[in-house]
Amino acid sequence: MSYFKEHIEKMTGYVPGEQPKDGIYTKLNTNENPYPPSQKVLDTIRNSINENLRLYPDPIATTARVKIAEVLGTKPECVMAGNGSDDLLSIIVRSFAGPGDKIVFPYPSYMLYNTLTELQNGTPCMIDFTEDYTLPEDFVVKGAKVSFIANPNSPSGTMISPREISRLASKIDGVLVIDEAYADFSDENCLSLVERHDNILLLRTLSKSYSLAGIRFGFCIAQESLIQGMMKVKDSYNVDRLGIVAAVAAIEDQKTMAEHVVKIRKTREYLTKALQEMGFFIYPSYTNFILARCMEGVSAQSLYEELKNRKILVRYFNIRRLDDCLRITIGTQEEIDLLIKNLKELLLIGAKGIK
Ligand SMILES: Cc1ncc(COP(=O)(O)O)c(C=O)c1O
Repeated sequence: MSYFKEHIEKMTGYVPGEQPKDGIYTKLNTNENPYPPSQKVLDTIRNSINENLRLYPDPIATTARVKIAEVLGTKPECVMAGNGSDDLLSIIVRSFAGPGDKIVFPYPSYMLYNTLTELQNGTPCMIDFTEDYTLPEDFVVKGAKVSFIANPNSPSGTMISPREISRLASKIDGVLVIDEAYADFSDENCLSLVERHDNILLLRTLSKSYSLAGIRFGFCIAQESLIQGMMKVKDSYNVDRLGIVAAVAAIEDQKTMAEHVVKIRKTREYLTKALQEMGFFIYPSYTNFILARCMEGVSAQSLYEELKNRKILVRYFNIRRLDDCLRITIGTQEEIDLLIKNLKELLLIGAKGIK
């Protein structure tokens, strides 16, 4: 006999990318930033490790919300902080959908959308992206309570134009979540749509462009009435003291973030060219990773395994549409050169099972 609710018992749960305990891997599997956080952020965190940690943090992370609003040109009342954007995704599902309600998301995309739907016992409406990763017309599902779009998308790295997103927001029932975890690596984003659409919830995170995946800080930007309602659903103290001060310092230091983004975009172009020359198909990437589809007769799974034997971790998804692909996080130039060297060797010697 199980003590769990039936729908919890049945679900698998989200499986995050591997986080090896030892540091001997070249880690190109979970889209972390290869460059360190801003020195100002590190100093701020160090200076905040003091006796004040016995006190609870500000429940609504006011200083961080004020700074985010100032830098992004909105009002603090339109910003909500979360323990990573995953926390905000969970708050959104709990705020707007109940058992049986339709929750829409594209496939293949961030699999947590499906997990959160299952947790809420909602009805998942998983709509396939077209071959070239645009959204089909049937993405607009009548009566849906929540629709998710990761934009740019993971694991494809591709992007839907803000114009198209705006068109969808006008047609969609319920709220439309634009998950912009990777937007800083692109030239375009949907921030300006928040003012025009009262159903858009825009999510950003410090985990990728700001090199702070270990801190767990994300934020949501939306019209005030949506933020007010979601505040009722969040945990009382969902962001800790160190997260709040780190966020203020990180958002203040746009220069360091932008410098790292420039380097990552350069390495992204470099890796794309190198892989294309080897024969891979590369989906256009607007993120800090690329999705590489293997050439005919080459096994992506074997490549993944052989790279892992050589202490290089990339991401392999053994699921429909992705089982012939590798998702590779953009590392430092040295890490990417090491990856290219090893891939060339493996393809040349036709290592076990690869060809
Ligand atoms: C599309 C997308 N959204 C959200 C997240 C989660 O980000 P956070 O670290 O802020 O929880 C990720 C993490 O990989 C992601 O790929």
